[in-house]
Amino acid sequence: MIIRSRKPSDIPSSEITPESAYINRRKFLGASAGIGAAAFLGVDPVRADTAFPGGHSAPQDDEPNTLEEITSYNNFYEFGTGKEDPSKRAHALVTSPWTVKVDGLCNNPADYQLEDFIKPSTIEDRTYRLRCVEAWSMVVPWRGFPLADIISRAEPLGSATHVAFETLWDPEQMPERMWRPRIDWPYREGLRLDEAMHPLAFLVTGLYGKDLPNQNGAPLRLAVPWKYGFKSIKSIVRITFTDEEPPTTWATQTPREYGFYSNVNPDVKHPRWSQAREKRIDGSKLFGYRWLDTQFLNGYADEVGHLYEGMDLKKYF
Ligand code: MTE
Repeated sequence: MIIRSRKPSDIPSSEITPESAYINRRKFLGASAGIGAAAFLGVDPVRADTAFPGGHSAPQDDEPNTLEEITSYNNFYEFGTGKEDPSKRAHALVTSPWTVKVDGLCNNPADYQLEDFIKPSTIEDRTYRLRCVEAWSMVVPWRGFPLADIISRAEPLGSATHVAFETLWDPEQMPERMWRPRIDWPYREGLRLDEAMHPLAFLVTGLYGKDLPNQNGAPLRLAVPWKYGFKSIKSIVRITFTDEEPPTTWATQTPREYGFYSNVNPDVKHPRWSQAREKRIDGSKLFGYRWLDTQFLNGYADEVGHLYEGMDLKKYF
């Protein structure tokens, strides 16, 4: 199953290797042993001197990560900055009932119960690469439906240019650990309306054919596979149509390091590390990962490249 040569939307779920085959196939050594807790504002995850042993390219491949890898090595800062914090702490998050507010510049604003929000759409399985800005990556068999479905139902006004997303913020349920500078919760993300309408932009309700685990953003998250993982906002409670670029958590927090677009781009280095290569989480390896070359737009350039024609992607990073 190679994603690059086919539209991910064309990959039937029957082609995804069954979960059980993956769960036991690899001995998961714990990526934390090799990767460490590289936080956005913390240590440099890809040090120039150690990044590319031997200096040659690792072969590309897109074998899905195991369920264990996908659910035990996470970023969900509302539950702490450690990679294992979400799997240890997010289980207590109450995800039912769950309300999603759709508002802003649209004809059909509504407060939906999650079931009603999902019901009109056809659920599909899609395997996407996930490339974190910290330079680790995975391949995840998501389950969900196109974001465009919801947007069409909401009928954005002609004046709407962007879509903003918000994560639940409930300090009672979300034991973030103290860290500086503090994040101005709730976690916020956004897309240009044409990006959000692109068929690859996916609202996720599950993975490996089952309900989404809390640590992965239950009960509803985004998967925008050509952008760095932080654009794929988790546990969404609000979707708002706007006529300007909405403020987003990381671009507001550290604008020099994180832009609104955050398209995966091996040629635009993070101020503190290279983005040319990535650590594909792989529990069968001694250090819990293997090196791969990072692909422009995470390998989805044929599908989404036209969205950025004429844009200077070094400026709009
Ligand atoms: N969404 C919220 N609400 N809070 C977060 O901290 N982390 C982002 C993104 N969505 C994050 C979030 C980052 S940095 C990444 S790489 C992905 O979630 C990780 O998704 P995963 O844990 O399912 O692999």
